Amino acid sequence: MAKQKICVLFGGVSSEHEVSLMSAASVIRNIPADRYEVIPVGITKKGRWLYYPGPVANLADGSWEQYPDCVPAFISPDATDRGIVKCVDGAFTLQKVDAVFPVLHGKGGEDGTVQGLLELAGIPYVGCGVLSSALCMDKAAANLVMDAAGIDRCEWDYMTRAELPGFDAVADRLERRLGWPIFVKPANAGSSVGISKAHDRRELLDAVHLALAHDTRIVFERFVTGQEVECAVMGNDGPQGTLPGEILASQEFYTYDDKYLAGTSRVVIPAQLAPEKLEEVRVTAVRAYRTLCCTGLARVDFFVEAGTGRVLLNEINTMPGFTDISMYPKLMLHAGMTYGGLLDRLIQLAFERKETANG
Ligand SMILES: Nc1ncnc2c1ncn2[C@@H]1O[C@H](COP(=O)(O)OP(=O)(O)O)[C@@H](O)[C@H]1O
Ligand SMILES: [Mg+2]
Repeated sequence: MAKQKICVLFGGVSSEHEVSLMSAASVIRNIPADRYEVIPVGITKKGRWLYYPGPVANLADGSWEQYPDCVPAFISPDATDRGIVKCVDGAFTLQKVDAVFPVLHGKGGEDGTVQGLLELAGIPYVGCGVLSSALCMDKAAANLVMDAAGIDRCEWDYMTRAELPGFDAVADRLERRLGWPIFVKPANAGSSVGISKAHDRRELLDAVHLALAHDTRIVFERFVTGQEVECAVMGNDGPQGTLPGEILASQEFYTYDDKYLAGTSRVVIPAQLAPEKLEEVRVTAVRAYRTLCCTGLARVDFFVEAGTGRVLLNEINTMPGFTDISMYPKLMLHAGMTYGGLLDRLIQLAFERKETANG
């Protein structure tokens, strides 16, 4: 049987560009080569799309962009093309693809934008669709839906940039509803960027300005003390969750450096919880996944609060990190799935989802 052509998208304009490069290198190295042919297309930080036929080793340090055989390329939105268009010496050529694996984190990749393009293109793709990607990316929208579905989370609130002139009233409300310290997050950012913890009003205003540099809307949360646990969920109509794992952060909270650069966080699988708590996390993760219409995969993150033992949902990541130190592949490995087997299954789920959508 001919190999299926999988276009792997990597890089992107978001603050998680570098993480995507690392995730994509792992994905490309581990896709079962006997069944799939990878067509790598990178997106620079400026948003330029390039077909990249060079070695995987050039991804992580960003040197792939200078590779002499890179050519401009893009996914055609024309549903009769079903492929990528390459521009070689001023001429356009069409390369058909069977599926796309958008290994992109954050804005312009994990937020429904690329997914919308792929819907127009009529090409099956790995992961969540437009609605779930967009909802999960926006912390305010996701929290509102979770509240409506009765999925427990910590007390929270939000404001828009337009409310800044009346900030004193907002601060009064937050102090009353959340208490100190208050966690401040841009509604859309990703990977701990623009996030901070405020202990008083002065710090709160600084935190608001920092968050506003990343988005026009901000989410505030009560600071939760407890364990940070994560569950890997996979599937379309009948999603399954793994045993949760736990993050042992080295800093006060799980920062971007912790996650990807310093390698200082440790992961424990399963999380250090009683069996019934592990089960509660797993069942809630699947419920949240279904509530936000996820398909393919997602990593669902929680806090288990110290003292009360409450399982509080934090967020859903529709394209979780896929590097070798990432939680999602580690949880799946613990559940008995190899990295190659995991990629194979995710691609098959993309095809299955497309068939159901057409049927
Ligand atoms: N309400 C909270 N209480 C305590 N710590 C929090 C809270 N929200 C987030 N954190 C910490 O900040 C980190 C990043 O926040 P998160 O909401 O997951 O944003 P991101 O989308 O950037 O991953 C979390 O992994 C956790 O360590
Ligand atoms: Mg997070």
